[in-house]
Amino acid sequence: MNVLIADKFADHGVGALREAGCEVVLDPSLKDDKLTAAISETKCNALVVRSTRVTAQMLNASPNLALVIRAGSGYDTIDVAGATQRNIRVCNCPGMNSVAVAELTVGLMIALDRRIADEVDDLRHGVWNKQKYGKARGLKGRTLGTVGLGRIGYEVAKRAAAFDMRLIYCDVIDQTQMEKELGIRKVSFEQLLAEADFITLHVPGGSGTKHLIGKKELAMMKPTAFLLNCARGGVVDEVAMADAVKSGTIAGAALDVYENEPAATDKEFKNPIRTVPQIYGTHHVGASTEQAQDAVGEEVVRIVRGYIDSGKFINCVNPA
Ligand SMILES: NC(=O)c1ccc[n+]([C@@H]2O[C@H](COP(=O)([O-])OP(=O)(O)OC[C@H]3O[C@@H](n4cnc5c(N)ncnc54)[C@H](O)[C@@H]3O)[C@@H](O)[C@H]2O)c1
Repeated sequence: MNVLIADKFADHGVGALREAGCEVVLDPSLKDDKLTAAISETKCNALVVRSTRVTAQMLNASPNLALVIRAGSGYDTIDVAGATQRNIRVCNCPGMNSVAVAELTVGLMIALDRRIADEVDDLRHGVWNKQKYGKARGLKGRTLGTVGLGRIGYEVAKRAAAFDMRLIYCDVIDQTQMEKELGIRKVSFEQLLAEADFITLHVPGGSGTKHLIGKKELAMMKPTAFLLNCARGGVVDEVAMADAVKSGTIAGAALDVYENEPAATDKEFKNPIRTVPQIYGTHHVGASTEQAQDAVGEEVVRIVRGYIDSGKFINCVNPA
């Protein structure tokens, strides 16, 4: 079986795939036309990607292609409908990086409350200003509103519970088990917007959640509230968010994901929100811890082995 990996991938995962009898080509630089050409050249049976986009053209490039594996949980970068049409199965690795994303989310929440990025920046410029930065409210007793209490939302809420925060959530489904375990209360989306001191988004991306947070929703938040988006760029209307932060409609925001994200190889970030004070940004690194990538690597190997050993598609998002 030929496996083409077009993104960074854990070394031990490559070794395990070779042990399982696979011919593996690993080239994280493959994108767009170069990737289409490589798929055609290797005649791969399985394609493994992380952030690399998979288009209809790529799906047509190898007559043997049976399996596309997204080495992560979201799969909005893959033309799933096109894969289904061509009888190609798409599998993902859900939950493997949830803790990593939750850790970053909690880190950003503390960073916003304590203005850590601004403090560091001032120190780097030789400025000492204990008075300006000595005014954080603290997290204890404050309300965390989680929009989407799935795998990552759960891990965030669990950690926030350890900070004695008050927990509320909204979701399109009831998470009764989590409610019992964490003491988290389900509220309407509108109530969450109005009550939360920190709103953290953990819904899937795509058309169903496009601009879930826009001008109207921002206006419903408290002026002291912070917005966190470690889900997908399009979930927040960035222009409306930047206006809301600049005008004091909300206190600030932190993002790990952006509407028009630079490619992994790009060296520039031109997004105008970068200059807005009280908007903190990270480089879409939520899932990028060694622990998470090792776990994802192991899950990819499990999926490939499942296919080799029994023809089964583990974690298939488009079953036949
Ligand atoms: N920053 C990163 O590097 C990174 C890494 C991994 C995942 N993600 C993103 O994090 C998000 C959450 O991932 P997950 O693994 O927790 O997903 P999940 O499927 O486990 O949970 C998503 C939850 O959102 C709920 N939901 C769906 N639509 C909703 C809506 N309109 N309103 C309220 N709730 C809604 C679902 O019912 C579900 O409970 C995804 O967008 C994923 O792509 C980001």
